[in-house]
Amino acid sequence: MLGQLPSFLVVLLFQFIAVSAYNKISFTNVGFSGSFLNVKKISDPTNDKCTCELDTSRTYFSGTNAPLSEYLSVHFRGPLTLSKFGFYTSSSFVINNTRSSADWTRNAYYDSSSQTSQNVTFLTNAGEQSPCLGNALTYLASNGSGAAGSSQILEDNNLIASDKEYAIFSNISCPKSGEKEGCGVYRKDIPAFYGFGGVTKMFLFEFEMPTETQQNSTSFGYYDMPAIWLLDDHIPRTSQYPTNSNCSCWASGCGEFDIFEVMNSTQLNDLYSTFHTFQGTDDLHNGLQASGSIPRDTSGVMRGGVVFDSSGNTISFISNSTVFDESISASALNSLLANIANNDTFSTQLASVAAPSSTGTARSNGISAFEKRDGLWISVISIATAVVHMLLL
Ligand SMILES: *[C@@H]1O[C@H](CO)[C@@H](O)[C@H](O)[C@H]1NC(C)=O
Ligand SMILES: *[C@@H]1O[C@H](CO)[C@@H](O)[C@H](O)[C@H]1NC(C)=O
Ligand SMILES: *[C@@H]1O[C@H](CO)[C@@H](O)[C@H](O)[C@H]1NC(C)=O
Ligand SMILES: *[C@@H]1O[C@H](CO)[C@@H](O)[C@H](O)[C@H]1NC(C)=O
Ligand SMILES: *[C@@H]1O[C@H](CO)[C@@H](O)[C@H](O)[C@H]1NC(C)=O
Ligand SMILES: *[C@@H]1O[C@H](CO)[C@@H](O)[C@H](O)[C@H]1NC(C)=O
Ligand SMILES: *[C@@H]1O[C@H](CO)[C@@H](O)[C@H](O)[C@H]1NC(C)=O
Ligand SMILES: *[C@@H]1O[C@H](CO)[C@@H](O)[C@H](O)[C@H]1NC(C)=O
Ligand SMILES: *[C@@H]1O[C@H](CO)[C@@H](O)[C@H](O)[C@H]1NC(C)=O
Repeated sequence: MLGQLPSFLVVLLFQFIAVSAYNKISFTNVGFSGSFLNVKKISDPTNDKCTCELDTSRTYFSGTNAPLSEYLSVHFRGPLTLSKFGFYTSSSFVINNTRSSADWTRNAYYDSSSQTSQNVTFLTNAGEQSPCLGNALTYLASNGSGAAGSSQILEDNNLIASDKEYAIFSNISCPKSGEKEGCGVYRKDIPAFYGFGGVTKMFLFEFEMPTETQQNSTSFGYYDMPAIWLLDDHIPRTSQYPTNSNCSCWASGCGEFDIFEVMNSTQLNDLYSTFHTFQGTDDLHNGLQASGSIPRDTSGVMRGGVVFDSSGNTISFISNSTVFDESISASALNSLLANIANNDTFSTQLASVAAPSSTGTARSNGISAFEKRDGLWISVISIATAVVHMLLL
């Protein structure tokens, strides 16, 4: 059928589909009842016999935004420059409903230009290498690449290259490692801090994701694939990149949310949002990814972040109206979000999950049936209109 269309129209059609981009990616019905397995024991970390044991009893979670309602660490991959970061909580916030919403309070803050750092600890995987755990967490060097001996403030103009990663935790130290302790079991000799907790929370960023300038793409694992994402904070404290899946709670579904992530399989200038939880899927690796994406601006500054509200709505957004004030009123955030038009919003509903199964894996239809691709349909309709016009002429 496409063969009968003039070739420029076919090109136009594919361009429209490829650039189906949004500034707001919205997930509804976020949070379910489930469980996962924490790490119970790490043995011989620096030895070839290195091994880990998961707990024999499951850790259960439930409620709004679960399991992302737990403490989360914030992760960054280059090429990326971070100029501002803010973490906010609210006692209650419902998107679109100012009456049920209280203001947001800033609980952590980083500003590169004034070198302000409040309740923020920069860490990276640049410590001791282990066959089963990978590199240990260490403090991050102020230039954003490699290890430092003590906590440093990330410097201004802190561009990191492809493959380079670091993370932000709070400045609240963990109690000692232990199954019944606040941070669970974690790797020996790491700087161990809590991530950022709360059911209703928001992470804001001012950042750049310029195109990678180094030429030799084959020497990178993630060439020109920047990302900002959230992990259950137990994951990096045991192992973010284990060779043995028993060395992390990730594989059993303790939780990851990707806020802005370039995917290998698609355009390098599209930023995707993805839940890696078992809510309505068995496929944790691919997760529940909205098929709409946010454009990556490779030459400008981007401002935006993610809101997890009090009734299971999660919104990743980019807006130059984003501010990093100590307090953000409910009405200001609602109008910022409302000012991103409906036809610039991609909405996805997560599947309802009744109860955790014995494996902790919840099955359902997944998300694809619920997606609302406003922008795409608008594009297709306008192409159809254009075709009709052409045929009539
Ligand atoms: C917010 O309101 C807009 C416009 O009325 C609507 O399209 C959208 O679905 C609402 N979002 C949420 C999360 O309720
Ligand atoms: C953590 O950060 C807060 C906010 O900046 C500060 O008041 C507090 O002293 C810091 N605590 C530690 C242990 O550094
Ligand atoms: C960043 O700092 C680390 C630690 O001081 C150093 O090893 C590394 O070479 C520096 N990287 C750059 C690109 O300057
Ligand atoms: C720092 O972040 C932690 C983790 O979310 C939070 O418990 C604590 O209240 C924050 N500290 C300040 C001073 O806001
Ligand atoms: C590119 O990187 C690969 C893998 O690190 C290396 O084998 C190759 O020699 C490099 N090529 C150039 C031109 O630097
Ligand atoms: C991305 O794709 C390239 C080419 O197919 C491959 O060599 C590379 O390993 C992939 N990287 C990741 C992170 O999947
Ligand atoms: C993980 O632990 C389970 C239960 O002890 C064991 O059966 C499995 O072989 C372990 N997996 C790996 C990769 O070591
Ligand atoms: C947002 O503002 C920055 C400059 O602060 C600019 O580089 C960027 O292009 C702007 N983005 C949009 C979508 O207007
Ligand atoms: C989105 O809606 C706004 C206002 O309703 C309109 O001005 C704009 O042209 C629309 N954009 C697209 C791509 O249809």
